[in-house]
Amino acid sequence: MSHLLVTGGAGFIGSNFVHHVVATTDHRVTVLDALTYAGNRASLAGLPEDRVRLVHGDITDAPLVDELFAEVDAVVHYAAESHNDNSLHDPRPFLDTNIIGTYTLLEAARKHTRRFHHISTDEVYGDLELDDPARFTESTPYNPSSPYSSTKAGSDLLVRAWVRSFGVQATISNCSNNYGPFQHVEKFIPRQITNVIRGIRPKLYGAGENVRDWIHADDHSSAVLTILERGTIGETYLIGADGERNNKEVVELILELMGQERDAYDHVTDRAGHDLRYAIDSTKLRSELGWSPSYGDFESGLRATIGWYVENENWWAAAKDKTEAFYAAKGQ
Ligand code: NAD
Ligand code: DAU
Repeated sequence: MSHLLVTGGAGFIGSNFVHHVVATTDHRVTVLDALTYAGNRASLAGLPEDRVRLVHGDITDAPLVDELFAEVDAVVHYAAESHNDNSLHDPRPFLDTNIIGTYTLLEAARKHTRRFHHISTDEVYGDLELDDPARFTESTPYNPSSPYSSTKAGSDLLVRAWVRSFGVQATISNCSNNYGPFQHVEKFIPRQITNVIRGIRPKLYGAGENVRDWIHADDHSSAVLTILERGTIGETYLIGADGERNNKEVVELILELMGQERDAYDHVTDRAGHDLRYAIDSTKLRSELGWSPSYGDFESGLRATIGWYVENENWWAAAKDKTEAFYAAKGQ
């Protein structure tokens, strides 16, 4: 049994990972989370107290980070400012958390010689044309577009440098778009589901032709555990589940699954610098480490996710009005 430190474990993917670890291993978990607008204690409710502890604190707080690294065997680093639209509005927190925060953790990993897994995104590779047969691989050059993705790219490069220069025992994974329970209502899929629940028409940026490569958060978690257990130090692994769909198709499917007309949505102002298409080739992870996704069928995963938001309005209601006010001010 190991003791894991999970940064950002009260956020969307981090909390899904903590639930996955509790359900599939006997590891103990300490979550370090600043509980920003995106963090939510309720996402960890019901987990056994003798196995999961939440420490409310910031990854840029070096003395706190130092103390926690001394207590654990390994670290999985999810904490980040994660939303592209927010990064276009105010980039500064992205630099603080994604760059300085990752630097602070790497220094502690170096001092305490701890196994470190860094969670990153496919957005570091920029975007692909709609008709390009290529998908991102581990050797695709970095070409990030937004303040968010450029700070994630910077954090990846810090990890690589700390491996090479200081021998830190780290791995990196870059995953495609996640969906599932506990995702903040600012993000595309939960925004549209909760809009329909509230009687608001879904909002599609631009023409809606942009493609994202969807993976269920639980499949992301199983991939991260696989890399933590069997990954090679210094290596990067791409995580994806062959889930390419354009945004228009996703909105139409949400509307259909929620009993609405498929065209009952609005086109709104496009995102500045909006990446056109992401697509992951996860051959390395599958062939070298033997991982494969469990949620093969996007439609049934989406139906279950809709069910979760319908059942858990208490979890998201407080954030909904503020989020919609932010978008309304930008014509979105
Ligand atoms: P999220 O915004 O839902 O959660 C982020 C969490 O980090 C929150 O709980 C927040 O309170 C915490 N946090 C933020 N700043 C912090 C700080 N300074 N110190 C401590 N905690 C802090 O994000 P998410 O969607 O769950 O993404 C998690 C990670 O996965 C990020 O690193 C993101 O880049 C990466 N990722 C996300 C996706 C996706 O589709 N959402 C895909 C690939 C990779
Ligand atoms: O690819 C991985 C990335 O996926 C992660 O690194 C990010 O943390 C995560 O937020 C996500 O980034 P995206 O920008 O792709 O996700 P978002 O949910 O914001 O938007 C998905 C797509 O939907 C994108 O093309 C923009 C579009 N969109 C979004 C919103 C919020 C809309 O059309 N309407 C909307 O209301």
